[in-house]
Formats: sequence, structure tokens, C-alpha cells
Amino acid sequence: MTPPHQARPMLGYGLGLRKEHYTDILAGDPPVDWFELLTENYLVPGGKPLHFLDRISERYPVVLHGVSLSIGGSDPLDFDYLCQVKALAARCGARWISDHLCWTGLDGINAHDLLPLPYSEAAVRHVVTRVRQVQDFLGHRILLENVSTYLEFDVGELTEWEFVRAVAEEADCLLLLDVNNIHVSAVNHGFDPLAYLDGIPAERVWQVHLAGHSDYGHYLIDTHDAAIVPAVWALYRAALRRVGPVSAMIERDDNIPRLDELLAELARLRAIGEAERARAA
Ligand SMILES: [Fe+2]
Repeated sequence: MTPPHQARPMLGYGLGLRKEHYTDILAGDPPVDWFELLTENYLVPGGKPLHFLDRISERYPVVLHGVSLSIGGSDPLDFDYLCQVKALAARCGARWISDHLCWTGLDGINAHDLLPLPYSEAAVRHVVTRVRQVQDFLGHRILLENVSTYLEFDVGELTEWEFVRAVAEEADCLLLLDVNNIHVSAVNHGFDPLAYLDGIPAERVWQVHLAGHSDYGHYLIDTHDAAIVPAVWALYRAALRRVGPVSAMIERDDNIPRLDELLAELARLRAIGEAERARAA
């Protein structure tokens, strides 16, 4: 695990680890620099996921990406869950742990959705207190990801990127910048995605997500079931010019293609990332 204030590591270009690809990965040693695993899929003791994770994490760097922290929720933080996450990170040598800047339930009921927070000073204070508790417990900083949204609270105190910046700076946490989510929310709410990129603290971005989405004409839904669209590739390039070289990966959670198809998309991610790195050098 990374020490508290290590400089940003560059893992390269990765993929989400999906069960459909376990055997191809072990049989073929594909040119993937690192894998991100969905934390909750590996918290059940024994069984196939941990069997494959043990073997894959011997060969590739891995990071943990969770969906259950509910950092913005009002229920108490679940330290039993965090204990399990900490043990899993130790088991697979995870380079870092991320989750989402959102809330996921109330009164112990998990909505299984990444719900938006009000962009208010009160919500900043609430989230910051909880991030500090989590980081104290884990002993290192976490990455929080911007989620895609379809509705906004009528608070009007901060823009989303001002909210993200305030949380990151006041809690001293890191960011997972999902450029597809920025694009989806920008279309749905009518903001400028480049203003978003200009507003976030670049040095705190340790990872970037790209993914596909569904286009319903006047709104987009973040479905992770399709290829990355040109506008999101362009936003990735713009993000690299703002943030600098950063570990990036492709999320695919539904309609999962053969590994070969994702490797072709990964080659494009790598080509853009390395071209921007050479351009900046
Ligand atoms: Fe994401």
C-alpha cells in the first residue's frame, strides 16, 4: 500500500478485472499494465474470485474499487466492511483503494446506486469528516471518484467541481477522475466539461476512468456496456493536458466483449496517453 504522501505513481494503462477474462489473462499474459477489481466481488471468503485474484495479483499490480463506502451517507460508517477491505488490500498488495463521492443508502438499506450529493458547504463538512475517519482507519489516503448524475439538488452553493475540490483539499484525499462521468453529467446538466477539468486539483488525481455509455438523445446514462465514444476520448486527452501522466483504465461492466476487443481499446488508451506524455516532455 502506498505511504500517506507518496508522489503520484504511474501504473500505466489498465482494465477492470472481470470474471469472463480470468482464464484468458492467466493463459495469455495480455499486455495490460494493471487491473482494477471491484472490491465487493472479492469479500466472500473462498471461491473462484479469490482463487483467480491470488494468481493474477502475483503477475499484475492491482487496485481496489468499491461501491459500498457511502462516504456521503448519513448512516454511520461501516467499520466491519472497512476491516474486510483492509484485509483484501493486504492480501492482493493493492496499490490503492478507491470508492465514490456519493451516498448509497439510508437506515441500513443499500440502494445499490451511486446517488448524488447536494453541492453545499454543509455536505463538504459532512463528507470531509467521514473521509478523515476512513483514512485514519486505513492508514493512508483514499481516492474518491466523481459519479455521473441525472438529477441535482437545488442548493446552488457550489458547482460539482468546486465541491470535489473542497472535499479533496479539506480531507486531504486523492481523486479518481472518471472522464466519461464528466461527459455524461455535462450533457445531462449542460455544463462545460473543460471548466470541470480546470476546476479540479490536478495533483490529487491519481487515476482516470474511461467507459462507454448509452445515448438517449437529450440525456445520457452511464451504462458501461459499450465502446468509448469520440467525445470521451477527446476529454481524456484534455484531462491529460491538465493533470499530466496518470494511471488510466477502461471500465466495462455489461455486454462484456472478448478480451481481444478490450485490448484493442486499451491500445488506443495507451497510444493517447503516451502521445500526450511525449508532447509534454
Ligand atoms: Fe468510473
